[in-house]
Amino acid sequence: MDPSDFTRGMAAVPGPVTVATTVTGAGARSGFTASSFVSVSLDPPLVLLCIDQGASTYQAFADADRFLVNVLAEGQEAVALRFATSGIDRFAAGDMRPCEGGLPGLPEAALRVSCTRHALVGAGDHGILVGRVEEIRDGRRPPLVYHRRSFTRPAPLPRPEEQLLSALHLTDW
Ligand SMILES: Cc1cc2nc3c(=O)[nH]c(=O)nc-3n(C[C@H](O)[C@H](O)[C@H](O)COP(=O)(O)O)c2cc1C
Repeated sequence: MDPSDFTRGMAAVPGPVTVATTVTGAGARSGFTASSFVSVSLDPPLVLLCIDQGASTYQAFADADRFLVNVLAEGQEAVALRFATSGIDRFAAGDMRPCEGGLPGLPEAALRVSCTRHALVGAGDHGILVGRVEEIRDGRRPPLVYHRRSFTRPAPLPRPEEQLLSALHLTDW
C-alpha cells in the first residue's frame, strides 16, 4: 500500500490530542504529543499509546515505570505543537507542573491519566505502550480533537441520536 494513502486515510479518523510525559531515572523530563491514546481493558484498567521507535523520546518511555497522559483541552493547540517539535526544550515554557506521581502535567488539561507500565509491545516501526491506569483527574474541560491534520472540537449531536444510545444501553461507551 502507498504510505501516503495510509496516512491520508487514517487522518480521516478523528483522535484525541494528548501529551504523554515521564521522567527518566536520571531525572530528565520527557514528553511527546500523541493522538494514538485509547482505552484497552476494564479489568485491569488499561490504556495504550503508540510511540515511534525512532523518536527522541522512545527510550525514555520504553524504560519508564510510570507515565502521565495529559488529554489536551480546547485552547491548548500550541502545547500540542510544541510537544511534537523536534530539537527544542519542550518544557521550557514552564506550563508543566509536577502532578500525579510527580510527573509533569498540565493543570488545565481536559483530563490527566496516570499510568504504571503494563507492557511494551513492538508493532512495526512503533511500540505499543500499555499502561495500567492508577488515577484519573477529570478537569471537565472540552477536549481538543485531531482530524484531517487539523485541530477541531467535538460537535454535539442533536437529541434523537443521544436518545438512541441510551435506548441501546450504550451510555458507558
Ligand atoms: C497531533 C499529533 C499527534 C501525534 N501522535 C503521535 C503518536 O501517537 N505517536 C507518535 O509516536 N508520535 C506522534 N506524533 C509525533 C510526535 O509528537 C513527535 O513529533 C515525533 O515523535 C518526533 O519527535 P522527536 O523529534 O522527539 O523524534 C504526533 C504529532 C502530532 C502533531
